[in-house]
Amino acid sequence: MNYYFPIKHLHVTAVTLSIILFVIRAYWSVTGSALLQHRLVRILPHVVDTVLLTCGVILAAMIGPEQPWILTKIVLLIAYIGVGTYAIKRGRTPRTRLIAALCAVAIFAYIVGVALSKSPASWFA
Ligand code: HEM
Repeated sequence: MNYYFPIKHLHVTAVTLSIILFVIRAYWSVTGSALLQHRLVRILPHVVDTVLLTCGVILAAMIGPEQPWILTKIVLLIAYIGVGTYAIKRGRTPRTRLIAALCAVAIFAYIVGVALSKSPASWFA
C-alpha cells in the first residue's frame, strides 16, 4: 500500500490551515486583540505546523530528500517560523509586527512556488 498521496493531501491541507491561522493571529497581534491569548489559538497552530512538517519530511524521505527544492523548503520553513514569531509576539510595536507578518506571508508564497515548480527559483523558475 502506498501512502504517498494521502500524506501529500494531509501536507497540503496543513499548509492551507497554517497560513489561514497565521494571518488571523497576525491580524490580532497587530491590532492588539486579546483573542490572541485564547488557549485554542495558542495550541492549534503548533499542532497544524507539526503535521505540516512531519508530512513534508515523510514525503521527502519517500522521494529522496537530497533535492535542491526540498532543502530550499526546509530552510525557508525555518525562516517563515522565525519571522512569524516576530509578527505574533517578539515584535515590539504594531508596525514591526505588521512588517514581519508581510515578510512571513511573502516567504510562505515563495515556498508554495518552490513546491509547485520543484525549483529553488520558485515563481521565477
Ligand atoms: C510552509 C512550508 C511549506 C509549504 C507552503 C509547502 C507547500 C507544498 C505544496 C503546495 C505542495 C503540493 C505541490 C503539488 O501539488 O505539486 C507540497 C508538496 C510537497 N512538500 Fe511541501 N510545503 C512546505 C514545507 C515542506 C517541507 C519542510 C518539506 C520537506 C521536509 C516539504 C516537502 C514536500 C514534498 C516532498 C511534497 C510532494 C511533492 C510532490 O509529490 O509533488 N514541504 N508542499
